[in-house]
Amino acid sequence: MQTHSHFAIAIDGPAASGKSTIAKCLARELGLVMVNSGAMYRAVTWKILQMGIDPQDATAIVAALPLLQLSCGVSGNYSTVSLDGKVLDEELRETIVNQSVSIIAAIPAVRNMLVQLQRDYLNHTSLVMEGRDIGSIVFPDTPYKIYVDASEEVRAARRSAEGVTDSVAARDKADSNRNNSPLIVAEGAVVLDNSDHTVASAVAAALDILRSQGLAMHD
Ligand code: DC
Repeated sequence: MQTHSHFAIAIDGPAASGKSTIAKCLARELGLVMVNSGAMYRAVTWKILQMGIDPQDATAIVAALPLLQLSCGVSGNYSTVSLDGKVLDEELRETIVNQSVSIIAAIPAVRNMLVQLQRDYLNHTSLVMEGRDIGSIVFPDTPYKIYVDASEEVRAARRSAEGVTDSVAARDKADSNRNNSPLIVAEGAVVLDNSDHTVASAVAAALDILRSQGLAMHD
């Protein structure tokens, strides 16, 4: 909840919609920290797999959560996720993580733990946070909410251009149909269709939306 002078810009949307790129550019443009909440779900997933726990075994995962040495920080203008004191990066994009992250992200105890860490950022800084439930659950009171969408073809092409094996359609289905904090267009969010934008025009459109939502900017 926003009880202090810091504010959050919530950017939600399906996999590979371009929301990370837009969130990064907005953060740079507005002088804010960009927080990638998906990286937190990916870090938990990576560690659970490393521990040899079956991603379908929710009981074992919940039991392992207190053992995880997970910490979230900031480097420059970007959020970081560390496990056992090591900042994770490339490992978070591994195919095996792509395949299991939606299953683990559907577990309520995992979400409760990570939502708390996400809200903690706001005690330290104003931010742009991207994810699936940022406007609906993490910061429902923020007036600044954008839902970035793009056609399935564009999203699949974007992932394969990145050289990553990722079934975005399967992940979106799981993320949108789960009982806890499914991907939705949050109340008050404006949809930005990013199917045909360049990065520059998408960021310009996002800035227009934020202005219309009352964000003061020094143009
Ligand atoms: O943004 P991403 O594709 O890196 O996210 C990876 C997965 O993490 C996504 O498929 C679902 C989950 N996730 C979530 O459940 N809630 C968020 N706020 C962010 C990500």
